[in-house]
Amino acid sequence: MSDTNHAPDRRNFVTKAAAVVVGGLISVVAPVAGLFTVFDPLRRKSDTRGLVRVASLASLPESGEPRKFPVLDTLIDAWNKTENVPVGSVYLQKTGDNTVRVLNSVCPHLGCSVGYNASSHGYFCPCHRSSFALDGAIADPKSPSPRGMDELEAIVKDGEVWVKFQNFRKGSPDKIPV
Ligand code: FES
Repeated sequence: MSDTNHAPDRRNFVTKAAAVVVGGLISVVAPVAGLFTVFDPLRRKSDTRGLVRVASLASLPESGEPRKFPVLDTLIDAWNKTENVPVGSVYLQKTGDNTVRVLNSVCPHLGCSVGYNASSHGYFCPCHRSSFALDGAIADPKSPSPRGMDELEAIVKDGEVWVKFQNFRKGSPDKIPV
């Protein structure tokens, strides 16, 4: 039999072999890619996941005077990733060598912006005259705010303050995340 009679068989064999190789590669690569997806959180720095870097610890006065900072986050939807979007603001107060107190600057009464009064060492909401102590507790019992200022979770890592920024339901005595 001539060699030309074997050509279609050879082509068929090569095609089938290529299909087996490609199929094999897909069956190996797909599960490995899946494992990367499943274990992706383990590959990230887990201690700052869900936190936003707000300021350096060195920018806070040693005296314990609070400073107000904007909170800029990265927002991601199905199509876009937008960095440095203002999502709120917080007061940072240095409470120790490596510790901070973080208060959301939004008034828990109806959502006005709370100011800091250096002369009285406390916070004051100008809208309906709620006042708060340095730790965020209600200072004047006549304050209409149903709860103290909302303290937020935070860590200090490599000299930077990272905050778990959250807003809470206004007008409620309970701190309910929204
Ligand atoms: S909004 Fe702050 S006291 Fe009403």
